[in-house]
Amino acid sequence: MARRRIIAGNWKMNKTPSEAVALCAELKDLVKNDAVDVVYCVPAIDIVPVVEAVKGTNVLVGAENFYIEDKGAFTGEISAPMLKDAGVTYIIIGHSERRDIFGENDILINAKVKKAFAAGLKPILCCGESLALRKAGTYTAWIRRQITWDLDGVTADQVKDLVIAYEPIWAIGTGETATADQAQEVCKMIRDLIAELYDAATAEAVRIQYGGSMNAGNAAELLSKPDIDGGLIGGASLKADFGQIVNA
Ligand code: 13P
Repeated sequence: MARRRIIAGNWKMNKTPSEAVALCAELKDLVKNDAVDVVYCVPAIDIVPVVEAVKGTNVLVGAENFYIEDKGAFTGEISAPMLKDAGVTYIIIGHSERRDIFGENDILINAKVKKAFAAGLKPILCCGESLALRKAGTYTAWIRRQITWDLDGVTADQVKDLVIAYEPIWAIGTGETATADQAQEVCKMIRDLIAELYDAATAEAVRIQYGGSMNAGNAAELLSKPDIDGGLIGGASLKADFGQIVNA
């Protein structure tokens, strides 16, 4: 079974609502490709206008964050059912910026993965090591631990619908990309781990992205690797280059 490629933009904290609508218009013809899942993961305030702006196109909308309760006294937070009702399909969980800047740990991330599935959202679960762990050579153990904790209690059927993004922290926003071989090594290790935690069919179905300074110039090589099923793109998702990555 061939896995369907998924190219997702993570807009992070960029683009006001009106800028977001303008970017959708700029990218509209450039991201046309029915063989690929194209996703814009956008700031919460941009979700409603972006859902409207991409209506009738091949683009799906994702969110960047939510809180694990459905409703109640959680000032400033947004729930998974709210995202679902607004037209969101994908949700980024466990991004290194949320882990490192906002202190999210694997217990919360695991709860978010389970809540997202319960609410009918598809998680894009991020993992990845720091430069220090890469240099120490312990990155494999680190990533195995992240994924094992983050998927605790998640069923095989859910994992078949999961996207895992391998994002080495040292490659995010730095212009330094993992080589295609480095990215493939970890993506394969993640697939092998899913086979170990679940079974071969689940490992075959789960989609694994690479993220970290992916751009129009390096996307084709990264995406040619057998265990890299797509990309999670920051900086280059905010410009016309994103269309080249979708069609790489
Ligand atoms: P850059 O593509 O800007 O390196 O960001 C990657 C990322 O963090 C996507 O989630």
